[in-house]
Amino acid sequence: MTAAQQDYLDLMKMILTDFHHVGRVEYRPLRIYSWRTRLLHAFHTQLLRLGYAIVRPEVTRLEDRMEGLDWPQAADSMIGMKRMQNIEACMASVLQDGVPGDFIETGVWRGGGTIMMRAVLKAFGVRDRMVWAADSFEGLPAPDTEKYPEDRGDEHYRQSPLAVSLEEVKANFAKYGLLDDQVKFLKGWFADTLPSAPIAQLAVLRLDGDMYGSTMDALEALYPKLSPGGYCIVDDYHAVQGCRKAIHDYRSRMQITEPIEEIDRLGVFWRKSR
Ligand SMILES: C[S@@+](CC[C@H](N)C(=O)[O-])C[C@H]1O[C@@H](n2cnc3c(N)ncnc32)[C@H](O)[C@@H]1O
Repeated sequence: MTAAQQDYLDLMKMILTDFHHVGRVEYRPLRIYSWRTRLLHAFHTQLLRLGYAIVRPEVTRLEDRMEGLDWPQAADSMIGMKRMQNIEACMASVLQDGVPGDFIETGVWRGGGTIMMRAVLKAFGVRDRMVWAADSFEGLPAPDTEKYPEDRGDEHYRQSPLAVSLEEVKANFAKYGLLDDQVKFLKGWFADTLPSAPIAQLAVLRLDGDMYGSTMDALEALYPKLSPGGYCIVDDYHAVQGCRKAIHDYRSRMQITEPIEEIDRLGVFWRKSR
């Protein structure tokens, strides 16, 4: 890769995480998930209908954005700089080593992680591999506690800011000139879309679905398609207990022994050896 191509990727990581605006004030919207605060919720909903919101001013901190700890207002990704760098490093490694397969993220939100994947393919001049963006594009599912009792009490599905439409994500790709035939969208719940997805082989599998069920559905459908030498990245390993448990359950059931490596305070990955 030339210095100019590396500069392009460095700029992409910075813009996708809104790193260049760290230190400015962001106005964090009030988030109310709990039914215990039903009155406040009703009041806030009325305010939103009138075009107002309760917000909390907060100066963004370098460390938070580096580690992907805050929930950025403007950035197209919430994963932070280190996990962005990890996407680039895993992709560079499989491209340099000729590990076959496409790239997927299960759980894309505004699209930032997959936009970075498409940018890496562009920088490396790769034309024969796809980036797959899998999401409901309407937020997380309510827990299916019959199938996955581990998700009992999970309230991610109440978080409306996690629902970003397919149209919005496509528009985000287009902003960077990266919406083309090398990007495929899988819209729907993972349990419905991933088992039948027309993906032959994967070189990088990036899991970012937060819940036990979302992590397990993605692993069961896609891990067998990950090539030896490919990477499995888990965004929420240290952030969500259910996600961590799904990883441990699947790894022990499939006798996966490759060591788990840390990316930052929340994310981990491993390289599949066989
Ligand atoms: C934390 S966000 C992903 C953040 C994103 N990777 C980034 O770069 O900022 C989680 C996403 O997973 C999606 N999601 C979680 N579970 C899902 C499921 N079972 N089926 C479909 N989408 C799901 C949500 O809609 C949401 O967009």
